[in-house]
Amino acid sequence: MLKNLVNALPKAELHIHIEGSLEPETMFRLAQRNQVKLPYPDVQSIHDAYQFRCLQDFLDLYYQGMSVLLREEDFHDLTWEYLCKCHEQNVVHTEIFFDPQGHTSRGVAFETIMQGICSALDRAESELGISSHLIMCFLRHLDQQDAFRTLEASLPWRERILGVGLDSSERGHPPSKFRDVFERSAQLGFKRVAHAGEEGPPAYVHEALNLLTVNRIDHGNRALEDPSLVQHLVESGMPLTVCPQSNLRLAVIKDMCDHPIRDMLQAGLKATVNSDDPAYFGGYLNENFHALIDAVDLNKEEIVRLVKNSFEASFLSAEQISGHLAAVDKIAGASS
Ligand code: HPA
Ligand code: ZN
Repeated sequence: MLKNLVNALPKAELHIHIEGSLEPETMFRLAQRNQVKLPYPDVQSIHDAYQFRCLQDFLDLYYQGMSVLLREEDFHDLTWEYLCKCHEQNVVHTEIFFDPQGHTSRGVAFETIMQGICSALDRAESELGISSHLIMCFLRHLDQQDAFRTLEASLPWRERILGVGLDSSERGHPPSKFRDVFERSAQLGFKRVAHAGEEGPPAYVHEALNLLTVNRIDHGNRALEDPSLVQHLVESGMPLTVCPQSNLRLAVIKDMCDHPIRDMLQAGLKATVNSDDPAYFGGYLNENFHALIDAVDLNKEEIVRLVKNSFEASFLSAEQISGHLAAVDKIAGASS
């Protein structure tokens, strides 16, 4: 019943790494198409390999998996498959992360990545009515100079990239390492987001806010350990893009029953639900909501709040947001 409501509601997704939507079947097909060698004999072995003790375990396979992406068509197919999933799941707006350094470091041109992704985004807008923004993430295990080079390479595509983000191995790579490149990005008019408080301490969330001047925090779970930080996030209306199945699969939580989503909402935090890397963590956006319904008994009011937050925390215009909120109210009202 509540799962039907989740499926029926129009939703926005704000935390999805496009390379993390590479399904094992597609990975295998692209490896054959491009003659890339994968250390797996078949699709089932790829599925079987997805057992992670921590973020780094996942990242190792995530970078290996993206090695099959070489040509413009590969980036198009990857992005198009995700957008078809969005269409199936009533995700009407999506703000997509991509990791250019994961590709340019393998000799793939920035232009190849952008043309492949953007052609799929344009097609989804016209054929499926899905709107989207692109957020270019800097890999935090690399140095700031590499991030600056990436920012430079992106400038011909300035009109197609709305924001910059920060992802990859969090521990030992604090936001402060990227202060200058975020400052430059802000001057260039990019929105700013950063993964913080997934595995890293609350201090990293402070740094993302104060040094990177972010508009949203990606994950942010560990902010809950610091009451004054929570108060600050609440008072500033700072959104958190929370990823329940990712949290479980990367051992940020031990059991889905322990997921803090209700605590976050009750504290007044602007939390949203997202899939992060759906092909690796067992589900797209609706499955993430379903998992919370099963495990923590998420109720209708909480579902509607989270879905409204997804639009309010987006980078859409105020007018677009109010249109989406009215559509949510209409469906939610019809289901009561
Ligand atoms: N955390 C950090 N980096 C990532 C993630 C994540 O959840 N997914 C893809 N890159
Ligand atoms: Zn992420």
